[in-house]
Amino acid sequence: MKKILVTGGCGYIGSHTVVDLIENGFDVISVDNNSRSSSRILEGVEKITGKKVKNYRVDLCNYDDTFAIFQENEDIEGIIHFAAYKSVGESVKQPLMYFENNLMSLINLLKCVHEFKIPYFVFSSSCTVYGNPETIPVTEKTPPKPAESPYGYTKQMGEQIINEFAKANDVQCILLRYFNPVGAHPTIQIGELPIGAPANLVPAITQTAIGKLPQMKVHGDDYPTRDGSCLRDYIHVSDIAHAHTLALEYLITEKNTKKCEVFNLGSGNGVTVLEAISAFEKISGVKLNYVIGPRRPGDVVAIYANNEYARTQLGWSIRYNLEDMMLTAWRWEQRLKTDEKLFSRHNAGLN
Ligand SMILES: NC(=O)c1ccc[n+]([C@@H]2O[C@H](COP(=O)([O-])OP(=O)(O)OC[C@H]3O[C@@H](n4cnc5c(N)ncnc54)[C@H](O)[C@@H]3O)[C@@H](O)[C@H]2O)c1
Repeated sequence: MKKILVTGGCGYIGSHTVVDLIENGFDVISVDNNSRSSSRILEGVEKITGKKVKNYRVDLCNYDDTFAIFQENEDIEGIIHFAAYKSVGESVKQPLMYFENNLMSLINLLKCVHEFKIPYFVFSSSCTVYGNPETIPVTEKTPPKPAESPYGYTKQMGEQIINEFAKANDVQCILLRYFNPVGAHPTIQIGELPIGAPANLVPAITQTAIGKLPQMKVHGDDYPTRDGSCLRDYIHVSDIAHAHTLALEYLITEKNTKKCEVFNLGSGNGVTVLEAISAFEKISGVKLNYVIGPRRPGDVVAIYANNEYARTQLGWSIRYNLEDMMLTAWRWEQRLKTDEKLFSRHNAGLN
């Protein structure tokens, strides 16, 4: 059984990936300082998989503490690196905090990859690297645009750092560019725990529907899209999670053609904000209280993925449609309301 270190294993995508890895025969340990999550999410992971996952509550910006995890686990064969801060708006207000956290943690990990000769490394990148693309859908060859935020720069720089590191070291790397991960695990044992006011569409929808937010704002309806609202590519978090297992297997079975390969992880379908709201209303039976507001600075007009490379190379297929995404997100929001104790940090909006 190969041992995989998942950083950010208590986070949204990390916890779903831990489940998928275990279900596919990997042995998993997590490192997460819980700055943006609760380690209690691992209780949900245990309920789904029957396995207890060890989390090292360590800040990856601390090299000595990070090094000690590798000393204690000399059999780590691969790393999936999720741990990062991810709020675009917060990064604009606190750029240094983002550069420090997201880049320092990456550099410390790569130092350990070098030191302990870890053969496989998978990195969470983002479609933010494409900026406002001239043509859609975007392929992995679409040239990245200047980032719209310090957060976006940390992803672009992260990709460059890994590319250069891979050239100089005996390691095989994959950069996964996620589009818009949404929904919750179908068992509703784990899901997204946004802290404070949600910046993403689906948590904003479900929080409005449950009454946590009084009203939702659609940021602009005068864009050049089919109904005037922004167009995005929503993808179920469990589909994203499974792509990580496939990415590792792809590297382990030496199917990669380059030392650092890039894959888009999106559904391949563009969905507008108003269409997403309508899909939610249909599956939940709740009429959403929303208003149309002005455009939000920095919002990309329209983007969706060409995901052919991931489908053909990794053998990835998409199991969940938009209705599944909305239904699982809604069931998870309903669970958060009833399970106050488990998710008190989230419900209090604490950081
Ligand atoms: N969710 C999205 O919409 C999205 C889209 C594209 C890319 N990504 C990227 O995917 C990754 C995972 O995203 P997520 O949605 O699961 O985020 P998340 O905030 O739920 O999870 C990130 C986890 O990393 C931990 N962490 C942060 N800094 C750390 C540090 N220095 N040391 C140890 N742990 C630390 C946090 O406590 C948190 O549990 C991130 O790198 C994010 O930038 C996310």
